[in-house]
Amino acid sequence: MQMKEEKVLVLSSPNSFFNLVLDVFKWLVSGGCGACVVLISRYDPVLEQVEDFTASSCLTLLCSIHGCSITTSEGIGNSKEGFHPIHERFAGFHATQCGFCTPGMCVSLFGTLVNAEKTDRPEPPDGFSKVTVSEAEKAIAGNLCRCTGYRPIADVCKSFAADVDMEDLGLNSFWKKGENRDLKVSRLPRYDRNQLSSRFPTFLKEIKQDVFLASEKHSWHRPISLTELQSLLKSNNSNGSRIKIVVSNTGMGYYKDKEDYDKYIDLRGISELSKITKDRTGIEIGAAVTISKAIEVLREDTRGDFLSDYVMILEKIADHMSKVASGFIRNTASVGGNLVMAQRNNFPSDITVILLAVDAMVHIMTGTQFEWLTLEEFLERPALGLESVLLSIKIPSLELNQSESSEPRSRFLFETYRASPRPLGNALPYLNAAFMVKVSPCKDSGGNLIDTCRLSFGVYGSKHAIRGNKVEELLSGKLFSTSVLYDAVDLITATIASQDDNAITAYRSSLAAGFIFQFFNPLIDSPERISNGYLNGYNKHPFAQDFELKVSQKQIPHDKVPTLITSGKQVLEAGCEHLPVGEPIVKSGAALQASGVFCIIKF
Ligand code: FES
Repeated sequence: MQMKEEKVLVLSSPNSFFNLVLDVFKWLVSGGCGACVVLISRYDPVLEQVEDFTASSCLTLLCSIHGCSITTSEGIGNSKEGFHPIHERFAGFHATQCGFCTPGMCVSLFGTLVNAEKTDRPEPPDGFSKVTVSEAEKAIAGNLCRCTGYRPIADVCKSFAADVDMEDLGLNSFWKKGENRDLKVSRLPRYDRNQLSSRFPTFLKEIKQDVFLASEKHSWHRPISLTELQSLLKSNNSNGSRIKIVVSNTGMGYYKDKEDYDKYIDLRGISELSKITKDRTGIEIGAAVTISKAIEVLREDTRGDFLSDYVMILEKIADHMSKVASGFIRNTASVGGNLVMAQRNNFPSDITVILLAVDAMVHIMTGTQFEWLTLEEFLERPALGLESVLLSIKIPSLELNQSESSEPRSRFLFETYRASPRPLGNALPYLNAAFMVKVSPCKDSGGNLIDTCRLSFGVYGSKHAIRGNKVEELLSGKLFSTSVLYDAVDLITATIASQDDNAITAYRSSLAAGFIFQFFNPLIDSPERISNGYLNGYNKHPFAQDFELKVSQKQIPHDKVPTLITSGKQVLEAGCEHLPVGEPIVKSGAALQASGVFCIIKF
């Protein structure tokens, strides 16, 4: 492909044999394992800063990295220039066996360290990063390892965190049992935070963002305005060329699209699609905004701007989004792309389900026409054609006809649910759900009156996300009681069962019943509340034990996403008769493996 710009791509290390092997297999497995993760660095001219994020290289289209620099595991350290302490610690903690996953693990950890150092947190002690143990553990969520096991890999990650408990780190070749903390720290391959800076070549800051790249067969366009996009789409309609609208191409990880397109249109250059705006009517997220960016903005402190209930809802949406795919997918995958896949192909989208519960709106452009639809209307429409483009998604703010301080007042309750094979990291859910309910205190009975309610469920197979309309009708306007709860559970069980006709229908409908029970049971007057039943004695709503919310919603921690491993103890018994068997000896070539060099062939 002929590049119009003189130089658009800089590799901080040569293509390794490892990446070549991955290319061969990319049609078989894409975006699911994290073995090919690289760090992409890009200059943001608006913020005047370089942003660094990890991404799956197998899903990243070459033209999409125009103006970016790419750092591989070999780029952060290698046998010629010296290994990075990440590589050396992977070797010393015995955290690599076959080595297939290790370079991706190293880059995922490296990306987390790079971004932790950009924060304004206090300076950590010498040799440590600003990263926390919890963040370090999550750095590799989504990087799959088939043979080493995650204990030593997590130990490597945690060893960089200033708040690490050194006693928690397992068997390694750096220190001997009984040595004190300071000695242990001094024996670790030294981590120098200053080595992380200025990897981005300055000339890339001058590269223009509008791109047109073309070969004889294919062309790549990055329009910078909606008008330009409209004319591109219009010309396509007239000449019938096969076009693909792309943001990050992560959808390829799920749908193995083998179509040979003539024209690619990259939406990331259009500012309307890449911004997030907040006003009193709510938050509008551009369709090309990445899931990671959306999470970051939804977690910003907006308590002065919105009702506390709305702030709580935004935090919960962000928490749920943090469980979608893995960090290196969320860093490039767009919110709009996720919704379009759900609309067109019934992609099992968590984001659609949680946004359906909050009555989100979508802004669509068809030709030169613009319209706002509810997300529900959008999902019900025929599959979005190429002439239509999703521009943005709006989470409307809440309206309460009372001041925040008037007591007692109506409250919004919101919760999301997700049952999946793993809590974090590339695991599609068996079922997900989100519920938003407005409740008022009933003065006469002392119970809780349900004013309005929206219940959404992800129903998989051939169906997109749905609302539990019959259950909503049943509950709206009712004084909540045990019998109402049982009726709701029965109704939702039947609803999910009738929508879903595959082998795990019974499991999914019982999950739906469990979610309903978990959410609504705390709204029943205390003496009547079911303390033993569906959920092993669950009897405490995360937000409201009683209506007056003894737990302040404002104090709910933002980061409720579970850690992978919180602590561990390793007890090893080894005799001396088979020495050196049992000794923690570093595997020959382990650091080389971690740096991305798979094998050395000598002739
Ligand atoms: Fe073999 Fe992780 S897959 S070391």
